[in-house]
Amino acid sequence: MLTQTIREKAYGKLNLSLDVLGKRDDGYHEMLMLMQSVSLCDEVTISVAEGNGLIGASTNKAYIPNTDKNLGFKAAKVFMTELNIKNRDVTISIKKRVPVCAGMGGGSSDAAAVIRGLNRVLKTGLSFENMRTLAGKVDSDAPFCVQGGTSLASGRGTEFTMLEPIPDCAFVIVKPRFSISTPALFSKLDSVKLRARPDTEGILETIRDGDLYGMARRCFNVFEAALSPRERDTVEKAKGSLVNLGALGASMTGTGSAVYGIFRTESEAYAAEKELSRVFRECYVARPAPALTE
Ligand code: C5P
Repeated sequence: MLTQTIREKAYGKLNLSLDVLGKRDDGYHEMLMLMQSVSLCDEVTISVAEGNGLIGASTNKAYIPNTDKNLGFKAAKVFMTELNIKNRDVTISIKKRVPVCAGMGGGSSDAAAVIRGLNRVLKTGLSFENMRTLAGKVDSDAPFCVQGGTSLASGRGTEFTMLEPIPDCAFVIVKPRFSISTPALFSKLDSVKLRARPDTEGILETIRDGDLYGMARRCFNVFEAALSPRERDTVEKAKGSLVNLGALGASMTGTGSAVYGIFRTESEAYAAEKELSRVFRECYVARPAPALTE
């Protein structure tokens, strides 16, 4: 067998709403999240050759590990083990564009892309559902990233209801310098009394109605309440700047620290991004990305 190489795009995600409903018996938390994949993506190149089960991963960022802490590597290991494939070597090369430690599921999306790519190259015929099950063994965000689009995620974050696309819009994403440990923020949230929760039912209704303004106004993430005062201040300032520059609504995504604003058009988004890039080193414009169909 000659070496076969395939490229996959690994789309980032934003949480348009994020609620944590309580702690589960397995130590994880019960989630209710409106997830949206976005056009900002990593490029994942996967090569498969005859061999004896070696896996290698590398990225263009020196601080991202190439070992089994790299979620692309971990995904390849899960795939080859679960499908009992021992006579192939896998090499993964990831060009990162989605901000790292941002709450945008960049690593999870790389993992999902590796699973899709291996399924294609090795012709293993897994359905999206099968691939989501494998992705759930990598981490909690990877199952969504297998197909992306617009989804309501529940349970550990790995159960889905696929939704119709959100109204056309553009996102401006800013990434403050600080990064937050996901387990640490979950345990901080356990000790915080939440004063406000997202109106998940309401935001779903706005999507059904094609009401962009109503949707943007309802974007809400309970993790903002668990930030330190200094982190919260930064996030509030970022949200305030986005709204002042014309965003219809703004919120932090996932466990942060990236903050997004929703704009009616791409040109409004680029104008805001130009202003924000004076203050934030990392600023991006992205569009909603549709669910993958193959
Ligand atoms: O599954 P993942 O590796 O993304 O989770 C990282 C950590 O986040 C878990 O070890 C857990 O502390 C926390 N977590 C949680 N409830 C979830 C998802 C993640 O408590 N639904």
